[in-house]
Amino acid sequence: MKLFIDTAMIDEIKEAWSWGILDGVTTNPTHVAASGKKFYDVIEEICAVVNGPISLAAEGIIKEAQDLKQIHKNIVVKVPVIREGIKAVKTLTEKGIKTNMTLNFSASQALLAAKVGAAYISPFVGRLDYINQVGMDLVRQIKQIYCNYGYETEIIVAAVRHPEHVLQSALIGADICTMRFDIMKMLYDHPTTDQGLEQFLKDWEKVPK
Ligand code: E4P
Repeated sequence: MKLFIDTAMIDEIKEAWSWGILDGVTTNPTHVAASGKKFYDVIEEICAVVNGPISLAAEGIIKEAQDLKQIHKNIVVKVPVIREGIKAVKTLTEKGIKTNMTLNFSASQALLAAKVGAAYISPFVGRLDYINQVGMDLVRQIKQIYCNYGYETEIIVAAVRHPEHVLQSALIGADICTMRFDIMKMLYDHPTTDQGLEQFLKDWEKVPK
């Protein structure tokens, strides 16, 4: 499973990229606003660091998508799964522009995204959990539908809230999981690994040199 970082903070992206486990980046207007930087400066910075898909939201879908795509070959245009979005993705797919259909909360939306050739679909699991639905159930449904018909749209599990979401994504067979930097760091953590390492380091001291 590929791991994407969900941020526009260049320091976090650089750090995660240096770990050798990062495959791509997703951002959204909230992340770009939080960075305090101009949109096109953010894009330039990210493209200079990451060699992988970089999902960015476009304001006015078709025109902006074409402009974004010209900036760098790795740019993927984020489009919401609304009626106009589905129509736009059909056009963009025909033009060879990769899209990530975002704000996905139902399997029927994901089916339509695949039918118009979206490169990615992003179910927002944490936001479903928050309204008392099981976000990962949506991922299971999408995976089943895409397998049934051989759709090539890749599933990006998004709005991830904890490492268990990442584990469940891998068990279900999602293609990608995108997460905040703090959650990515948690993937490494296990108290028993820390205890074991502490013991080994102590024992090294006892080995005659
Ligand atoms: C993914 O592409 C989105 O940017 C992200 O996961 C949104 O999630 P949030 O609910 O944490 O804002």
